[in-house]
Amino acid sequence: MRALTWHGKHDVRMDTVPDPKIVNPRDAIIKITSTAICGSDLHLYDSMIPSMEKGDILGHEFMGEVVETGPGSTLRKGQRVVVPFVIACGKCFHCEKQQFSGCENSNPAETQDLGEIAYGTAMTGLFGYSHMTGGYAGGQAEYVRVPYSDVGPIVIPDGLEDDKVLFLSDILPTGWMAAENCQIEPGDTVAVWGCGPVGLFAVQSALIQGAHKVIAIDHHPHRLDLAKSMGAQVINYHDVKVREALMAMTGGIGPDACIDAVGMESHGFSIDNVVDAVKVATRLGTDRAHVLREVLMACRTGGRVSVPGVYGGMGDKIPIGALMEKGLQIRTGQTHVHKYLRPLLDLIGEGVIDTTFLISHRLPLESAPDGYKMFKENQNEVTKVVLKPDWQKEAA
Ligand SMILES: NC(=O)c1ccc[n+]([C@@H]2O[C@H](COP(=O)([O-])OP(=O)(O)OC[C@H]3O[C@@H](n4cnc5c(N)ncnc54)[C@H](O)[C@@H]3O)[C@@H](O)[C@H]2O)c1
Ligand SMILES: [Zn+2]
Ligand SMILES: [Zn+2]
Repeated sequence: MRALTWHGKHDVRMDTVPDPKIVNPRDAIIKITSTAICGSDLHLYDSMIPSMEKGDILGHEFMGEVVETGPGSTLRKGQRVVVPFVIACGKCFHCEKQQFSGCENSNPAETQDLGEIAYGTAMTGLFGYSHMTGGYAGGQAEYVRVPYSDVGPIVIPDGLEDDKVLFLSDILPTGWMAAENCQIEPGDTVAVWGCGPVGLFAVQSALIQGAHKVIAIDHHPHRLDLAKSMGAQVINYHDVKVREALMAMTGGIGPDACIDAVGMESHGFSIDNVVDAVKVATRLGTDRAHVLREVLMACRTGGRVSVPGVYGGMGDKIPIGALMEKGLQIRTGQTHVHKYLRPLLDLIGEGVIDTTFLISHRLPLESAPDGYKMFKENQNEVTKVVLKPDWQKEAA
């Protein structure tokens, strides 16, 4: 089959690779109909995540048609499914608590060490996201093997086309959980750093969950316009000082809740970000944590901080004093996607949530390397790239 493979920094290629096979009884094989490129994929593209190997198949946002099932799968051939990017067994201690991104069984023993060393725990299995998360082949391919297919995939009713439901695989639940982690109360102002897909869905979710006012922060005019069209007030951090602007917009106390939807690759030329960039480039550091610092400094006393943005290692100069003295609460984590699939599918079906506005480019899978380059280099206009394995390259 054809698949997008990783070969190093800014080097991804379409290769011909062996077709996936059923390995365990609960597996299913899915023929991909749509798959997307995520901001998290850019961390791999930029070589920020350790334990990638040449030839690894990328992609963790995908959906398709069931073509083969193991004896333990509850899926049937021909069903259309969206698959969560988190691989979870559904039966372990964390899965039973609905903390699916903490599943203890989905990362095989031989790839657990790096997580143990870096985070004090083995990581949960993720599709197409390095060997520290299990080395699973991803879904930017014609076919993918889905483990625990009786637990993760959600069957999509006829009549809801791919573009309406694809983002259930990751960014929609991620934006939703980011807002939920803010424990929004009536009258709340929620500030969201980053107007990428996750930030924009966090804006949408915060408003649905009852935020009185949402303020979105970025520097890309088009992305800020999208946030505005969803009902947010916006701050372009190139034009104004973010904390001062937020104070002015919140009667001088700061937002009640703050969402860091940027993570480890913050842009900008603030002194701390430049120092971080030098450290990361020379391997003396791992993360550019400017946004997390700004969030902790800007949030109001007693406020809530939600961090869907991915961090990978050791951030320094984190204002731990602000966190403590202001009595902030922080919630973060890889999204417990499984938990949100059914309620969010219902909201899509009812027309409360529409995610299609986000898609700026639809390309054949064969053009995936161009898709990565565009998403990396032209963030303003390229808000989300969806890849279609069925499309011929010439036809694009
Ligand atoms: N927790 C999860 O399970 C989960 C799931 C999906 C994605 N993520 C993470 O969420 C983050 C966002 O993902 P995305 O797909 O939206 O990525 P993206 O790269 O498309 O968007 C990031 C946005 O942040 C903006 N930004 C950069 N520096 C900024 C700053 N200093 N202040 C304000 N905005 C700034 C960029 O201009 C960009 O628009 C990434 O770190 C991604 O890995 C987490
Ligand atoms: Zn993703
Ligand atoms: Zn589990």
